[in-house]
Amino acid sequence: MQRILVTGGAGFIGSNFVHHLVEHTDRHVTVLDALTYAGNRASLADLPADRVRFVEGDITDAALVDTLFSEADAVVHYAAESHNDNSLDNPRPFLDTNIIGTYTLLEAARRHGTRFHHISTDEVYGDLELDDPARFTESTPYNPSSPYSSTKAGSDLLVRAWVRSFGVQATISNCSNNYGPYQHVEKFIPRQITNVVRDIRPKLYGKGENVRDWIHADDHSSAVLTILDKGEIGETYLIGADGEKNNKDVVELILELMGQPRDAYDHVTDRAGHDLRYAIDSTKLRTELGWTPSYGDFEAGLAATIQWYRDHESWWAPAKDGVEAFYASKGQ
Ligand code: NAD
Ligand code: DAU
Repeated sequence: MQRILVTGGAGFIGSNFVHHLVEHTDRHVTVLDALTYAGNRASLADLPADRVRFVEGDITDAALVDTLFSEADAVVHYAAESHNDNSLDNPRPFLDTNIIGTYTLLEAARRHGTRFHHISTDEVYGDLELDDPARFTESTPYNPSSPYSSTKAGSDLLVRAWVRSFGVQATISNCSNNYGPYQHVEKFIPRQITNVVRDIRPKLYGKGENVRDWIHADDHSSAVLTILDKGEIGETYLIGADGEKNNKDVVELILELMGQPRDAYDHVTDRAGHDLRYAIDSTKLRTELGWTPSYGDFEAGLAATIQWYRDHESWWAPAKDGVEAFYASKGQ
């Protein structure tokens, strides 16, 4: 599997994966990305041209997809509309990209017999109670809450059906919340870091009790590479690094690490249908494929992420004002 096609490789996690492939393997990468508001060529700017090729295009473009599959040994599918708040505002692009786009890729994988890895989210399982000792496993029933997570659940089910009905050589992974460099400022952690840089008070939805299970994007990349190389066709693997934290604790830690009072934030209107808690049990991935995360210390990873946003203001500044205007229009 020397030639890897990465869809959505100009987005947050996709670009981290391309960096990971260049750093840790000798494989050649083609990125297919439509450069929506969430895609950024600058996220791939420092990579060697003889290892990474960029193709601007849409995963719903069947002819383009067919050509790129004919040139690839394996495909890792990150491209998606990824933000819950946007899906509450305008669900349609989520159906187009997450459902029709995944269908278009699966049809190409079927024609070409290409190894296919589908990137998904723990949100397909719905949410857990705060005091529930349970965590999500591969056998937790699907119960998505938002337009975003329901389209991701639909795309997972398409992959499973194409494996069973057509013998497509696919695996699926469902990961928890990622943090790290190159994440769009619409998302929770970069929004609060860049707010502090701009002297805007961080914004916490509701009481801030909601729990997310944080993993560094580079650990997500190493897990995906492990599944691509060693995963069993037709199987699903949950990816997580035991990083449960509530949103209030994360905001307070960001403020402390950035030299501000820990209470210098605002509570704002809660997200509609806001999932309470996500938590991943990644035992299967660890025991069957031998994967372990490298970024065990969340505070250290967060401090490095804060430094990255301080050092890369030109990367995020063009998006910041538009994002804040969008949230302000919703009281968030
Ligand atoms: P992102 O929004 O940062 O990036 C998405 C990328 O896909 C962008 O570069 C965008 O231009 C591209 N794209 C969108 N529509 C496209 C289309 N029709 N054709 C081609 N390219 C298109 O998203 P992200 O946070 O990096 O998430 C990547 C994947 O990982 C998604 O499938 C998401 O569901 C999944 N995931 C994300 C997280 C997380 O914490 N961010 C956690 C688990 C799983
Ligand atoms: O669990 C995996 C999912 O994680 C991925 O599938 C999604 O693509 C990714 O966006 C992320 O979804 P969340 O909705 O959990 O992430 P977000 O960064 O939008 O929000 C994280 C938490 O922070 C959530 O409880 C909402 C809250 N929040 C968010 C923003 C933007 C705030 O309190 N304030 C904010 O300003």
